[in-house]
Amino acid sequence: MKVAIVSGSVYGSAEEVARHAQQLIKNAGHDVLFNPRATLADLQAFAPDAFLAVTSTTGLGELPDNILPLYSQIRDVLPAAWRGLPGGVIGLGDASYGDTFCGGGEQLRELFMEVGIREVQEMLRLDASETVTPESDAEPWLAAFIEKLGA
Ligand SMILES: Cc1cc2nc3c(=O)[nH]c(=O)nc-3n(C[C@H](O)[C@H](O)[C@H](O)COP(=O)(O)O)c2cc1C
Repeated sequence: MKVAIVSGSVYGSAEEVARHAQQLIKNAGHDVLFNPRATLADLQAFAPDAFLAVTSTTGLGELPDNILPLYSQIRDVLPAAWRGLPGGVIGLGDASYGDTFCGGGEQLRELFMEVGIREVQEMLRLDASETVTPESDAEPWLAAFIEKLGA
């Protein structure tokens, strides 16, 4: 399968998790596109069969700046070819922000819903107030995600 990873990050933690996910998904035998600066055209040219979004949260529940252009492009176009594809979201946040905990991840879940990408498992929420090892913490979730993608 061809798996596209999109990521939003301010300080690099989410990007590290995305990079680790790229390795694990590749090891499982899939093709992966991961470029933190990917445009809609890059994603469409890759023609993904599945999506993984990994994003942190900034401001008050906002998406990081680096993913905003792609977010807007996808929202404007809602590519019909992606409707029905499997996907999953990993959100990084900090529970001490209360109601906006993992708000960036929630925005990407909503975008997936608008596009018609099916979440194959519940969003993983990684809490920076509880862990300093988000990459390894994501491994069980990623293993289940890879399993759900199938061959
Ligand atoms: C200025 C600022 C605002 C933040 N706002 C939120 C927030 O609203 N909700 C949340 O869950 N986490 C929030 N966080 C926590 C980050 O999302 C968290 O530390 C994350 O691990 C950072 O990942 P990154 O290195 O990929 O940017 C905020 C962090 C900073 C520095």
